[in-house]
Amino acid sequence: MIEVDNVTVGYGSAGFIKAVDGVSLTINDNEILGIAGESGSGKSTLMRAIYGDFSTGLRIQSGTVTGRFTDPRSGKVIEAPSSRFAPLWWDQISYIPQGSMSVLNPLMKIEAQVVDGLPKRERQGSRGELRARIAAFLAGFGLEENVLDAYPHQLSGGMRQRVLVAIAAFVNPRLILADEPTTALDVVVQKKILLMMVEIQRRQRNCLVLVSHDLGVHYQITDRLVIMYQGRIVEQGPTADIFANPQHDYTKNLIASLPRLHGKRAVETLGAVS
Ligand SMILES: Nc1ncnc2c1ncn2[C@@H]1O[C@H](COP(=O)(O)OP(=O)(O)O)[C@@H](O)[C@H]1O
Ligand SMILES: [Mg+2]
Repeated sequence: MIEVDNVTVGYGSAGFIKAVDGVSLTINDNEILGIAGESGSGKSTLMRAIYGDFSTGLRIQSGTVTGRFTDPRSGKVIEAPSSRFAPLWWDQISYIPQGSMSVLNPLMKIEAQVVDGLPKRERQGSRGELRARIAAFLAGFGLEENVLDAYPHQLSGGMRQRVLVAIAAFVNPRLILADEPTTALDVVVQKKILLMMVEIQRRQRNCLVLVSHDLGVHYQITDRLVIMYQGRIVEQGPTADIFANPQHDYTKNLIASLPRLHGKRAVETLGAVS
């Protein structure tokens, strides 16, 4: 669905500061792809380059990011570089940026924030029907309908983050890019939200790219894993293989520093339930 080919990305027009250096990877349909690496290794920069948001002074110096999406109405295949993804945002590609709690507008009730951004095709029918559909979707995230009448500050951090994940998934996008979606939350809330994201991915059969510096999270839920270090990919492959047999010293150290991982992976547990 997305092909990242030898891409070098950085910031600034006068002096170019390299943040991602010659990275190649493929994002497939129907998988959870993890991106791990220490702070400053270029994870968020890579996400922005894939999403095609160049508003932060981001620049692709060389290489390409190419997407192939099937238009859900016409069935036509759209192939384009990420610099032309903007019309696909939310509709086909959802992005939960790092520190995204601040993405919610503090002055607007949740319902208005969801409805205002919806693609036209989702806004058919009456406002009441639409509200009912959104409420039903939120219920799947353990959120009650009255959340729609709340302002963001009236919700807990965990609820706000659930709202954001729900908004991202509501229109059934083919690709969800989630950058540290649970990092600021306590472990119990974190786990609930991650499991919710896995469930959505399994149901919608789309692709979830999950950025986290926490290898425990990747062990729990990702299918494939990319390890970044100083702007480069040092290792990538099926998550289970990387944990069983890490190749790069950086990965070996990361895994050695984890608390012992007990029990089954969350995806396996979920698989047994559904
Ligand atoms: N908006 C920006 N302007 C300039 N440099 C940036 C910007 N955002 C990130 N960087 C730099 O790019 C590098 C990678 O950062 P980032 O992609 O945020 O890494 P990570 O998400 O892995 O912590 C860092 O050296 C960081 O300082
Ligand atoms: Mg980051």
